Parts: sequence; C-alpha cells; structure tokens
Amino acid sequence: MVGIFNLFRICFRQKLASFGNLFQKIRLFNLAIIDDSNCLVGVEIPEESTTNNLQPTTMKKLIVFNWKSNPHNAASAIKLAQLVEKSIPKKNAPEVVIAPPFIFLEDVGKVIKKAALGSQDAFWGDVGSYTGEISWHQEKHLKVKYVIVGHSERRKYLGETDEMINKKVLAALKAGLKVVLCVGEPSRAAARELRIKNAELRKAKNYVRKQLEKDLKNSKFLILNSKLRNHLVIAYEPIWAIGAGHSDTPQDAVEMIKYIKEFSISNFSPYGGSPEGRQFSNIKVIYGGSVDGKNIKNFIQYKEIDGFLVGNASLKQKEFDRIIKA
Ligand code: PGA
Repeated sequence: MVGIFNLFRICFRQKLASFGNLFQKIRLFNLAIIDDSNCLVGVEIPEESTTNNLQPTTMKKLIVFNWKSNPHNAASAIKLAQLVEKSIPKKNAPEVVIAPPFIFLEDVGKVIKKAALGSQDAFWGDVGSYTGEISWHQEKHLKVKYVIVGHSERRKYLGETDEMINKKVLAALKAGLKVVLCVGEPSRAAARELRIKNAELRKAKNYVRKQLEKDLKNSKFLILNSKLRNHLVIAYEPIWAIGAGHSDTPQDAVEMIKYIKEFSISNFSPYGGSPEGRQFSNIKVIYGGSVDGKNIKNFIQYKEIDGFLVGNASLKQKEFDRIIKA
C-alpha cells in the first residue's frame, strides 16, 4: 500500500515539474513577443528562450579597465595593453577587459590574448547615416566583447538620457555583445548618525532603481535568453566617488550591490526570488569609483562584489598590477 502511495506521489511530482517547465516556456515566449514589438533594431536575436543549462554564477571576478580618453597615441596604447597582459597570471586570473578609446581598439585588439577587448560606448543603430557614431556592428568586427553603456561621464558631458541608454543596451545585447551598464547616484551626504546614513542609502537605492527600470526597459526577454547568459553586467558607480581619490566604503558598496542583485533577481531571474532564482541569477554586479592598488584588498574579500570597473588606476602599471593580482 505504502509502495503504491509513493509511486503515485513521485508521478504526481514529475507531472507538476513538467507543467512548471511548460508554463515557464509559455511565459518566456510571451515575453519575447511583447518585448520584441517594442524593439528598435532587429538583429541577431537568438531564437531560443529556455531555462535549460543554467549554471550558477561563477566566482571569477571581472575587472574592466576603462581608459576613458587616454593615452595620447597608438604607440602608448599598445605599450599599456602589453603591460596589462604581462600582469595577468596564467592561473587563477580574473577576467580582465581593456576598454580603450575607439581609435585604439584595433591596435590594442592585436596585442592582447589573455585580456578581452571592451569599448566605452556603442551606438544603437547599425551602419548608416549617424555622423560621429560608432556602431555595435563595427565594434563586433574588431572583436569587441564588452561594451560599457551609460557611463556617468557620457550622461553628464554628452547628455545621454536613460532612453538613449536603453536603446544602446537593447541593441548591444541583441548583437551578442556583453554590456556593462553603469548606474549610480550623484551624491550621498556623509553621515555618522546611523539614522541619517540609512536615509541617505535609501535615497541612493531609489535613484539607482529608477535608472535600472529605465535603462533596462524591455530587455527581459534578452536577459533571460539562455544564449545571452552572463551578457549583462551592472556596474555600481557612485558618481561622487568617480575620479575623486576616495572610494565608497566596501560595506556601503556591498549594501548597494545586494540591493541591485535583489532587483535583478526579482526582475530578471527565470525563477524569480526563489532559492533557484538566487542561485542562478546570471547578472554580475561590479563596483567602480576610485578603486586602486591599495583599497582593492578591502573590496576583494566581499563575495557579493563580482568585480571592478577601474578608471585612473588602469593607466598606472603599479596600480593595475596590484588590482589584477589581488
Ligand atoms: P575611477 O573611474 O576609477 O578613476 O574613479 C571609474 C570609472 O569612471 O569608471
């Protein structure tokens, strides 16, 4: 009797599981249809959207070197890239990405083997009449793997809006590029009193959440596509810490990173906020803002921080060597 009951229980559980899978596929299919109708450029969208082959997030840290508008010429760019290559150990190395200015992409691409090539922006349109813009298509041709989108300096000096950033995110993901989306609040008052400190953090979280909602609009079906796994990286960069010479505290950065992960798990994990969702969330969240060879040891110990976006220190051998080897 007990045997029959157990058999019945196992069959029932299996049926439930297959209904779950079917439901999941229908849900993803619907998302693809709804979201696709809002998309701007129809390029290379991988057809399949299932949750098969999901892997837990890997522990390898991602380090993105953002050279901004440096150095002066191609010869210096090549030399710098060669020094970065030299710093990357053969074993247990983090994933290192070099993002030089556009004009040095080709030269840098030729001399790197261990590091990957990144760009600092990509226009949403394909090749065509877009004066002054560089398309994701041209970048792919140069073997660019990562593209930084929505950096605060572009938002500030070039007037990039969340709407423009959203178009770039969608176009780059569709093109199969990995996106490093930058978000972060412009200011946060330093406070000793816990109540005020918490209120400041709450304000910052709200700011970042609004950016994420706008910048990632209609991207769910791309993020959930199994062929684009790990293609979205979010860089938390509090603007007040960028180029300031003083970073956020690792504790506050971790608090914000956890918040961003919660947001992405509930919005972009195929399993939502369930235990599986947590385990299989495929979005990395990295920290940027005055990371250097000294303070890296304070950040690196936190498993919640999946890596770093580094500006100034990525131009100085002693600094980037320490960051890579931390
Ligand atoms: P920083 O720049 O390391 O010089 O603060 C970081 C960034 O802007 O990405």
